[in-house]
Amino acid sequence: MCGIVGIVGRADVAPHIVDALKRLEYRGYDSAGVATISDGALGRRRAEGKLVNLERRLADEPLDGTIGIGHTRWATHGVPNEANAHPHFSGDVAVVHNGIIENFAELRAALIADGFEFHSQTDTEVIAHLITRELKAGKDPVSAAHASLRVLRGAFALAIMFRGDEDLIIGARNGPPLAVGHGEGEMYLGSDAIALAPFTNAITYLEDGDWAVLRRSGVEIFDIEGSPVSRRRQQSLGTAYMVDKGNYRHFMEKEIYEQPEVVSHTLANYLDFANSKVKEFSLPFDFAKLDRLYVSACGTAYLAGLVGKYWIERYARLPVDIDIASEFRYRELPITKNSAALFISQSGETADTLASLRYCRSEGLPIGAIVNVRESTIARESDAVFPTLAGPEIGVASTKAFTCQLSVLAALAVRAAVARGTVDAAQEAQLVRELSEAPGLAHQVLKLASQIERLARDLSQYKHVLYLGRDTNFPLAMEGALKLKEISYIHAEGYAAGELKHGPIALIDEKMPVIVIAPHDRIFEKTVSNMQEVAARGGKIILITDAKGAAESTVDTLATIVVPDVPEIISPIIYALPIQLLAYYTAVFIGTDVDQPRNLAKSVTVE
Ligand code: F6R
Repeated sequence: MCGIVGIVGRADVAPHIVDALKRLEYRGYDSAGVATISDGALGRRRAEGKLVNLERRLADEPLDGTIGIGHTRWATHGVPNEANAHPHFSGDVAVVHNGIIENFAELRAALIADGFEFHSQTDTEVIAHLITRELKAGKDPVSAAHASLRVLRGAFALAIMFRGDEDLIIGARNGPPLAVGHGEGEMYLGSDAIALAPFTNAITYLEDGDWAVLRRSGVEIFDIEGSPVSRRRQQSLGTAYMVDKGNYRHFMEKEIYEQPEVVSHTLANYLDFANSKVKEFSLPFDFAKLDRLYVSACGTAYLAGLVGKYWIERYARLPVDIDIASEFRYRELPITKNSAALFISQSGETADTLASLRYCRSEGLPIGAIVNVRESTIARESDAVFPTLAGPEIGVASTKAFTCQLSVLAALAVRAAVARGTVDAAQEAQLVRELSEAPGLAHQVLKLASQIERLARDLSQYKHVLYLGRDTNFPLAMEGALKLKEISYIHAEGYAAGELKHGPIALIDEKMPVIVIAPHDRIFEKTVSNMQEVAARGGKIILITDAKGAAESTVDTLATIVVPDVPEIISPIIYALPIQLLAYYTAVFIGTDVDQPRNLAKSVTVE
């Protein structure tokens, strides 16, 4: 989603702002802009599309100035064009904004009635005009910004600067994340620590309702009432990682190949492989005393949660209610006694997941969160954090975060089973040993890449694809379809294989390949029957299975991808890899922007 950068520096800042914006590209955007103040004048350059367009504008018409703000915009109000790109100006005020101002229509009407002219369709422009109105009423810049913040409703992160004060940037946070970076005689604002990594790793995260006054000498932070608040300065982990593609064509490819390593780090965080036991990591509840666990997340994280439901119910006999977070937050469910909530999010900033978390908090539930970004809001607002050790995930399509989320969920399922006495010590040891095989098996599966790449060439010719699976392979079927559609723009749907004959079978013909995820498990034969139903109607089957499944399947396939034999508990982690590779290579053949697919954002901070 939108990215924000601000610098009060000592040398010209525009090139540094663009560098920082590049590090926010992974969040997804469709236009970008930068503004500076130089010799008492505001200047700005904006461009539709990728940052390279903005760089071209800046090369033609450079911007001087040692103070500036920049933005990558993911359109919400108004199409992605130059006029709607940030920064927005009003009189002496320049603003960049991430989020949505919910009362913008009424504010806009009032400002128009007061004689303000609007030059964009954005909700952001009302903020600039509101501040100008306060300045005209005689307030100084800091008080004008504060007064304006008090009338805004909705979710926003802001950076504001003022012609006439070249030593002042105001940042504000109410929802989307915002970090202050501390430099030597320079100060920075950024949507996250990754953006600021080239400048500093001394970071202060603003909390909801905070606003900050940045000058070269330092920062003062206030709450919405205007009282000073103290926020911890910390060393960011963001700088510890090199965020580049290495020898890979895309971040997504790199992240797929990182999975053996990051899954191994993540599992090792929760499992004691030496003693074949689950570790005693801290929990905000006692699994033995729970009657129900509420799980909520969005997109790929939700599908990880759905796999988790199968595991936790199967191994720990604990009922799990799972919801898409945007539904959970409004469905007014009756919370049962002795329950707890678990949220799953790579970014830790997803607005709907965060809102669901806050709902559960208001209901008094203990809260755990599986997150990848340790310093994120969801992590900070949870009673216990179960980190995925995936490292920064830059490709918009989630890959390594998904398998790391599965790794944590598997470990939690075993931990719950031990606590509830549904597995004994020998079974615990067996499950832990099986989980320890995941990294090695993932590594073996990656060797199938060239076969999958050849198959992807065929798949790229189709317009529609169906994915089928049973049990934990049902969420995987949905994940395969999500991955394919989001990066290749081929229409794809994932179904529980048993649901086929309740509707989707009507779609089957020779133009509809059906990808079946079916290891040779206890329900393999049921899935074979579903494949026969597809074959009988001319459907082309791509079967992802193991050697036994390939030998025993009686159905002709377009292709069979044979994955090594895997223990049942790690099957979703391992089978995730071929479906990711298939989506990836298909998108590469089609020639889409794999790492930043159209219309998508990495961190979805609006509902
Ligand atoms: C799909 C994808 C999205 C995210 C979803 C939740 O590849 O990446 O569906 O999984 O937007 O994001 P997080 O995990 O950051 O809450």
